[in-house]
Amino acid sequence: MDDSGIGATLDAAHRAALDFLATVDERPVWPRATLDDMLAVFGGPLADEGADPAAVIDEIAAHADPGLVAIPGGRFFGFVIGSTLPAALAADWLVSAWDQNSGSSRLAPTTVALERVAGQWMLDLFGLPRSASVGFVTGGQLANFTCLSTARHAVMARAGWDIAERGVRDAPPLRFVVGADRHGSVDRAARFLGIGRRELTVVESDAQGRMRADSLEQALAEETGPVIVCLQAGEVHTGAFDDFTELIPIAKRQGAWVHVDGAFGLWAAASPSLRALTAGMEHADSWATDAHKTLNVPYDCGMAIVRDPADSIAAFRTGGDYLIYSGLDPWDVTPELSRRARGVPAWAAMRSLGRSGIAALLDRLHANALAMAAALGSIDGIDVVNEVVYTQVMFRTGSDAATRALGEAILLDGTAAVTGAEWRGRAALRCSMSSWVTTAEDIERTVEAIRRLSAG
Ligand SMILES: Cc1ncc(COP(=O)(O)O)c(C=O)c1O
Repeated sequence: MDDSGIGATLDAAHRAALDFLATVDERPVWPRATLDDMLAVFGGPLADEGADPAAVIDEIAAHADPGLVAIPGGRFFGFVIGSTLPAALAADWLVSAWDQNSGSSRLAPTTVALERVAGQWMLDLFGLPRSASVGFVTGGQLANFTCLSTARHAVMARAGWDIAERGVRDAPPLRFVVGADRHGSVDRAARFLGIGRRELTVVESDAQGRMRADSLEQALAEETGPVIVCLQAGEVHTGAFDDFTELIPIAKRQGAWVHVDGAFGLWAAASPSLRALTAGMEHADSWATDAHKTLNVPYDCGMAIVRDPADSIAAFRTGGDYLIYSGLDPWDVTPELSRRARGVPAWAAMRSLGRSGIAALLDRLHANALAMAAALGSIDGIDVVNEVVYTQVMFRTGSDAATRALGEAILLDGTAAVTGAEWRGRAALRCSMSSWVTTAEDIERTVEAIRRLSAG
């Protein structure tokens, strides 16, 4: 196989990857180049002649730099984005080299086994039923969609309506109950299911974004037909967790399917000191999370978890005379057929950290959030807006215009990246402490930059 230049090509990629990672801490965190700059670099018509594969990789590496974001470094705090653990990164490379079609266990016994074990380890870490199905999807968005699609199928089936046979046009009305501070991906998942924003039943939330129990009780008082209640573990601005011990029994009394969007919050259950945040969530019917945030594996690793695998199969098993079926296959529990073995890096990450290492990672992210909030709060004119219960810190300064200007100045300065948002009608800046590499010094450097920029 090496006649094709595969060794030299992989060496080129290895070199370029190490160069990037070795300098990631010194480069400006936010990129200097725009999309248009990078289109100018890589654009133009496709050449008629091909090129040597190693030279192709060298060409990408030689020009990519100005448009790369220092996400794997210790001072990227935007959105909710983890870095990448070494074992997870290397496992991701192997996944590409092996090129296993991991939709089917007959086609890919090794990678499907690694994913199945990774799923079992997660159920154990999260305190969820060991018999649940774990479907590996691209991320939190698709995890929400997969779970909610399963939920719709199941609640309709209970109402005597088979969606696979009869579709949705004449189906009994479905109520979809969500919190006021749900993540946008929930609305988008609902949209994919044919449920418009105006059709959602929106339940009020408290100052931190937690769904209010009295409002849920009211919203469900008149429910009779199929109903799905969507709760949240980890609000994207505040990091707040819904009170599952209070809310799930209310929803269950009305026969609702309860879904928990825990894209980054489900992981709190893996730390003994943070686990209380997720108390009671094990009584839900489905849970969405991903590993590319809090577990620090590379992108493309979400998990759709469903209490009863029979519900997943009913929603997703497909036909196809040329496919090979063998018991419960990965393609039975998600919307995809062919796919890469995206769960393998999660296996590698968990194996490399061990149970105690995962708990320590969670505790460190939380401690970093507390340290960041305390240091930001000590800067004149900066107000920390949220109660820091988990990994999210939100702050603002003076007017909305001043807050937005500070956000732009931070990105331009390049010491760190925080990203903007709106909270309760006012501009805010968000720091998400999601990276395993962030140190106390990273926090100090970030806070010093913000102190300097907010003064000037
Ligand atoms: C609570 C929550 N749900 C869903 C998502 C969507 O996840 P992804 O970007 O992996 O699709 C996010 C992303 O930050 C999130 O915070």
